[in-house]
Amino acid sequence: MRIIRSIRGLQTWRRKQDIQNATIGFVPTMGALHEGHLSLIRQARKHCHNVVVSIFVNPLQFGPAEDLGRYPRTIQSDQALCREAGVDLLFCPSSTQFYPKDFQTSVTVNQLSQRWEGEARPTHFEGVTTVVTKLLCQVRPNQAYFGQKDYQQLLVVKQLVQDLNIETRIVRCPTIRESDGLALSSRNQYLSESQRHQAASLTVALRQGMQAIKQGATMVRVIQNSMQEILSAISGVKVEYLAVCDAKTLEPLTRVRGQVVLLGAIQIGTIRLIDNLLVKMSL
Ligand code: PAJ
Repeated sequence: MRIIRSIRGLQTWRRKQDIQNATIGFVPTMGALHEGHLSLIRQARKHCHNVVVSIFVNPLQFGPAEDLGRYPRTIQSDQALCREAGVDLLFCPSSTQFYPKDFQTSVTVNQLSQRWEGEARPTHFEGVTTVVTKLLCQVRPNQAYFGQKDYQQLLVVKQLVQDLNIETRIVRCPTIRESDGLALSSRNQYLSESQRHQAASLTVALRQGMQAIKQGATMVRVIQNSMQEILSAISGVKVEYLAVCDAKTLEPLTRVRGQVVLLGAIQIGTIRLIDNLLVKMSL
C-alpha cells in the first residue's frame, strides 16, 4: 500500500492509472476507521482495480463549538486496517497542504443542505461539499463509496456530482450496526457505558416507526408519536428531530407515500447522534 501526503504526489499517481486504464474506487473518510468504513472499502475492492482511501479530518465541516480538537485520530491502526483490507493508496494530506492560507473557494449545494443536519449545523455541508469536490477532482474515481449512515450527506454528494457533471458514480453502502442496532460511528467512542445503552434507543425508535408504516400507518403525526414515545421513556436523551421524509428530496411528509426515509437526531449529554432507515412502499 502506498501512502501519499501531497496533492502533487496524488496527481502523479493518478496520471499513471490513466495510462494503465485502471478503474478507481474511492472511499473518503475522516479516519478512526471501523467496520462501517471497512465495508465501504470492501465494496470498492470488489468493483475496481485500484482502491483509494483518504483520511482527512476536514476542519471546514466542523462548527466553532464542535469537536474538531477531540475528534479521534488513530492513524497507525487506520493504516494497518487499510493495508489488511487491500487498499492500494492511502491519501492523508495535512490541513495546511489541503487548505493553504489563501484558500477562498467553497462549493454549496442549496436546498438539500438546508434541512435537518443543515439546520443543526449551518456550515457543515458546505465544508463537506467543498472537501468532497476537491478530493473528487484529484482522485477522479470511477466510483466513490458513501455510507447510508449519513443519508443526507449521501444525497448532497449525489446532487453535487450531478450538478457539476463529475464523472464519478456515487455508490450507497448499507449502514453497519452493533448487535443492538446502534450504527457504528467514530463518535461512539465519546459515549460512556450508560450513554452507550441510551444511544441504541434512536435505532429502536426508528425501527418502531418503520414497523408502524409496514403495519399500515400513513399519518406521519401518528408515526412520529410512536417513535417519540420510545425516546421519551429514556431519561438523558434529547430528541433534536424525528422526521418522516421523501427519500429523494428530504421534504417532510404529512402522509406516507412513495419511498420514505425516517431520519433521527438525538443528543445525549454533549454528544449528537444521527441515524436513518429507508422504507420502501408500494403505494
Ligand atoms: P466519516 O464520518 O469518516 O465517514 C466516512 C464514510 O463512512 C461516509 O461515507 C460515512 O457515511 C461512512 N460510514 C460511517 N459510519 C458508517 C456505518 N456505520 N455504516 C456504513 N457506512 C458508514 O463522512 C465523513 O467521514 C466525511 O463527511 C467525509 C465524507 C469524509 C468528508 O469529509
